This record gives sequence, C-alpha cells and structure tokens, in this order.
Amino acid sequence: MSVKTITAEELKEQEIYARKVRSVTHTYFEKPVAYVHTYGCQQNVSDGEKIKGMLEKMGYGFTDEIEKAALILFNTCAVRENAVDRVFGNVGALKRLKKKNPDIVIAICGCMVQQEETARKIKNTFPFVDIIFGTHVLHKFPELLCRHLFEGGRILEIPDCDGVIAENISVKRESDFKASVPIMYGCNNFCTYCVVPLVRGRERSRNAEDIISEVRELVDNGYKDILLLGQNVNSYGKGTEVDFPELLSRLDRLEGEFKIEFMTSHPRDCTERLIDVIADSEKICHHLHLPVQCGSDRILKLMNRHYDKAHYLGLVDYARKRIPGLNLTTDIIVGFPGETREDFDQTLELMRNVCFDSAFTFIYSPRLGTKAAEMEDPVSAEEKGKWFRELLEVQGECGSKSYQKYVGRTVKVLCDGKGRTSEEYFTGKSRENIIVDFNGAEKDIGTFVNVRITEAKAWALIGEKV
Ligand code: 5AD
Ligand code: SF4
Repeated sequence: MSVKTITAEELKEQEIYARKVRSVTHTYFEKPVAYVHTYGCQQNVSDGEKIKGMLEKMGYGFTDEIEKAALILFNTCAVRENAVDRVFGNVGALKRLKKKNPDIVIAICGCMVQQEETARKIKNTFPFVDIIFGTHVLHKFPELLCRHLFEGGRILEIPDCDGVIAENISVKRESDFKASVPIMYGCNNFCTYCVVPLVRGRERSRNAEDIISEVRELVDNGYKDILLLGQNVNSYGKGTEVDFPELLSRLDRLEGEFKIEFMTSHPRDCTERLIDVIADSEKICHHLHLPVQCGSDRILKLMNRHYDKAHYLGLVDYARKRIPGLNLTTDIIVGFPGETREDFDQTLELMRNVCFDSAFTFIYSPRLGTKAAEMEDPVSAEEKGKWFRELLEVQGECGSKSYQKYVGRTVKVLCDGKGRTSEEYFTGKSRENIIVDFNGAEKDIGTFVNVRITEAKAWALIGEKV
C-alpha cells in the first residue's frame, strides 16, 4: 500500500489551530489543566504522549485529579471486551462532572472509537461527550478541539484514511530516561481473533533514517531505555534494504550507554538472523516477547497464525542456545472458538515444555468484525474459566522456577526509582528486562548499576549493588 506522510504544511496548519485554542482556553480557565487517561498497550501509551504533547502546545497543564480538569480525554483500547466495558463505565461517570461545569471538554479517542459502530454508540449513549476521534486522525486533535471551542457542537471524526504516518508531532514524554519510539503502525496479519488490523489499519513502516535520528537525539538528551514499538516489529521494512534485524544492528552501533527493547514479535517472521543480531549486540535487551497464543496446531490454523508448534519450538531452542539467560515471555489465549479439552491440553504441555519466564494469559473475547466472532463457540464461560485457572497454575510453577537461573549472577540494571515492596529498596530493570530490587540510592535513578542477584521471587529478582 502507498504510505502518506503528513506534510510539514499540514502540521503547520495544526500549529495554527493549537495557537487559536491557546488563545481561548485561558478565558474560561485561569490555568487550564487536562486529565488524560490511556487504556491498553504500549502503542496507545505512546499515542497518549503525543496527545499530551499537543495539549501542552495548546496551553494545557496536566492533572491526575479528574475533578479539577478543564479537559478530560480517554484514549481507549478495543482489544478485549473488558477494556471496552471499563471505558463505557468510566465515560458514564463523567455525566456528573459535565453537569456541574458545562465548560469542560470531554474527548474520547483511540482504537475503540475507530470502529464506527462503537463510536456511534458512544455518541448516542453519552450526549455530554464533545469530541470523538479515531486513531488515523490523531495529529488533527488541535483542529478538532478548535472547531468544538469556536463553533460549538459535537464532533465525530473517524475518516478511513488508513496508511498515514505523522512525523514530528510534539511528544510529552512521561520519563526523563525511558522513551518509546514507534517504528511501524498497523498490522497485516489478520489473526482471526484480533481487532487490531481493523482499528489500526494496514502495516506501514517509518523511514529508517527518521527512526535512527530520533533515537540518536533521545540518547544525546540522556535517554537510556529505548522501546521500539510495532504490532509486529519483525515485519518492519520487509523487502526493503533496512529490515528489522538491520534496523536493530544500526541502532546498536549508535554511540552512548543505553539499552534497546522492542515489542511485539510474531513467530512467523522471527528469524534466526534476528536472534543472531540480539545475541551479538551490545545494547539490545536479552528479552524476547514471542506470543505463541496456543499449543494446538489445529487452533493455530484457525487463528490464522501461519506457524505450527514445531516451528515455534525450533525458534525457542535456537534463541535459548544463542542467548544464554534469555528472558522468554509469551501471550496465550484460552477458549478460542472450537477449542477442545484436547487442544487446551496441548497448550498446557507446551507451557510445561518451554517453561516461559512469564506469560500474559487471556480468555478469548469475541471482537466485532473479526472472523473468529462468526465461529461456533460451544464451550461454556465456566469451563473456559476453569481452563484459565489451570493455565495460571502451570505458569506459576514455571515462572517461579525460571528466575532461579539468575541467582549468583551480576546483572546491569537501569534504576527506575524507589522499590514498591520496601522503603529501603530501589528498583529497575535488567538487560533481560526483569524487575530487580536492590539496595540503591536516590542518585542511582536514571543510571545503570551492577547488581549481584541474591534471591529470585516469582515476579522479580532481589540483589545487592556491587
Ligand atoms: N481475545 C483475547 N485475547 C486477545 N488478544 C488479542 N485479541 C484477543 C481477543 N479477541 C491477546 C493476544 C495478543 C495480546 C496483545 O492480546 O494474546 O497477543
Ligand atoms: Fe493482532 Fe495478530 Fe496483528 Fe498481533 S499480529 S496485532 S495478534 S492481528
């Protein structure tokens, strides 16, 4: 597909709208503050940082107290039903605030509203929501807010302008040393359960030079943890000179002390070459998040995953040989339509064989417009719940065993801040991307520290600074 990059003129236009907004918000509120809440994945978190960047340009500060906000924005997720239900509940609760102060602006954006039916449902159910806009028009937020403030009325903007890449939107980063960098948008895989291709559009990769210069600038500005984002990073730049392994090795060669993480990988496109690049790198995390989804070849086929169990196990073998101490994590869906007890037993068997360091487990949730939502689904919710608990149990056994391998080793940790469990401890993540709590100090925050691991818990490692 042809990819359209938003032009400098189009972005200039948005800056003009932003200035116009800035000129009026101060007349309603002395110091307008916005409450922005993001649901869902890292891609959404990254969009949330762009939204905040745009709001900052429009003169808004930020608050965590919703009652004080002049503008409330929910950046939504559609990947599973419980995320959608939560948004409906939380939006409903805003009625009271709008009644108290009709001048506040309420906006809803993100994956959920990129689906026309859901957007209309929000519009009809919640007449107090002022602006609803889809993922493909994120960069137009200043224009939409400006139109609402100057012309009044409600705005619903979900054009199907798939294939757009907007460079140079200002970003308000949440951290001074951790930054996420989207490298591609959308997905072409059409896994039959997944709504993402329907709400994020077709796959499009950013220009490698744009990514490399963004990362270089971040590192020059003191960022030490760079998270590369994409729904399926392994298909980045497919068929071009700079594919994903090449992009990673170019980034690895940049000067500076920093680490590079990435998510998410698809087992179909994950190659031995990619694993070699990680193994031979200096800065790329020894962490592979490789969602297997299921251990039954029959169900993998129905899921349209384009690999089988044998291929997956081959990749795991190769990765563990090439990268000793690899942190291997996965996603699993339980109760896909038509999944039988025999299929589920194969998932349990795979979990026991591979023994993932950690796994994100989900009960299948039918999504509007996906192929799986049309399939027969005879297994009851109770039965699926039972399978889900069995899965958690098996993963619990594996997870607590797997961290033991780090005890006695010294790992390099990027210190994040104070620990959650104890006042004396500081916390951070190792090059394997595992949480490490240790006897740090305030001055360690945002720096790399060597820590000798003394104990393994199910959720983290504990250690002493060396
Ligand atoms: N139901 C349950 N889990 C899902 N995921 C994606 N779509 C669905 C769905 N309809 C899970 C997959 C994916 C992760 C991000 O969310 O495991 O890898
Ligand atoms: Fe969804 Fe599959 Fe694309 Fe991941 S690879 S976003 S699960 S369609």
